[in-house]
Parts: sequence; C-alpha cells; structure tokens
Amino acid sequence: MNNKIIIINGPNLNLLGEREQSQYGSITFEKLKKNCLDKSKELGLNVNFTQSNIEGELVNIIQESRKNFAGMIINAAAFTHTSVAIRDALSLFKKPIIELHISNIYKREEFRQKSLISDIVTGGIFGLGAEGYILAIISMQKLLKNEN
Ligand code: DQA
Repeated sequence: MNNKIIIINGPNLNLLGEREQSQYGSITFEKLKKNCLDKSKELGLNVNFTQSNIEGELVNIIQESRKNFAGMIINAAAFTHTSVAIRDALSLFKKPIIELHISNIYKREEFRQKSLISDIVTGGIFGLGAEGYILAIISMQKLLKNEN
C-alpha cells in the first residue's frame, strides 16, 4: 500500500497554543505536529505535516498532493468557510480526504457553520480538540488498508 499521507493546515493554525485557547486548547502547533508524526509512525504511515496562511499556496499543495499521497487530512481553518478555490482543488484529489476541525464549527458563529468542502470529502471530524488529528490518522490508516 502507498503509505504516504499529507496533513494540511490552513491559516492561523501555526499559532495554536496562543490563539483562543477556549476553542483550540493549549497544545502548540509544534507539539501537535510531533503527536501526529509519532502516531503515523506507530501505524506505519509516512506523514507530511504542513501549514500555510496563504490560500493560493494551499491550492498548490493540494494540487501537488495528487502525485504522491494516498490520503489527505485537511484543516482548512477559515478557508473552509470561504474558499471555492480550495474546494475545486480538493475535488481533483481522487483519494480519501478527511476534513478536520478542532472546534465544533456547528456550535459557533453562523458564518462558521457552513463548510464549502464537507460534501466532497470522504468524512469529517470536528469538536474533539487536537485529539481529532489522532483519530483522523487512525481512520485514514483504516481507509487505506481497506483499499488494498
Ligand atoms: C477551525 C475552525 C475554523 O472556523 C477557524 O477559522 C479555524 C480553525 C478548527 O480547527 O476548529 O481557524 O478550522
């Protein structure tokens, strides 16, 4: 099985630990990255953990991912609610995609309650904190195993 997966993080997630701890908890981005790398290794997955604050850069990363990665976990952050460009790029990725949000976007402001990507991804995890990343990695491993 191709065991390469990519975890893509959108704007402001680099400031985890500093921003709105009531929504996102106290874990730092670096610690989150380490947890994801450790869990992926344990499950035999090779993970690329990436982040950008720039919409076009995220589109480029998603486009490039088609070549190398068997699955994608994406927290598009604020672009979840606004970006047709990211949605269009994701729809070209013909492999499993898990949408992830640390907070429960459906319990927050009205503008966050709409995701432009939920209907084109394989599945989603939201509202379970940073632990959601670990759950997404476990689910992705199962999805990839079932494909082969
Ligand atoms: C988020 C939720 C988004 O509404 C917000 O803009 C983020 C993070 C989450 O992980 O809960 O930056 O995607």
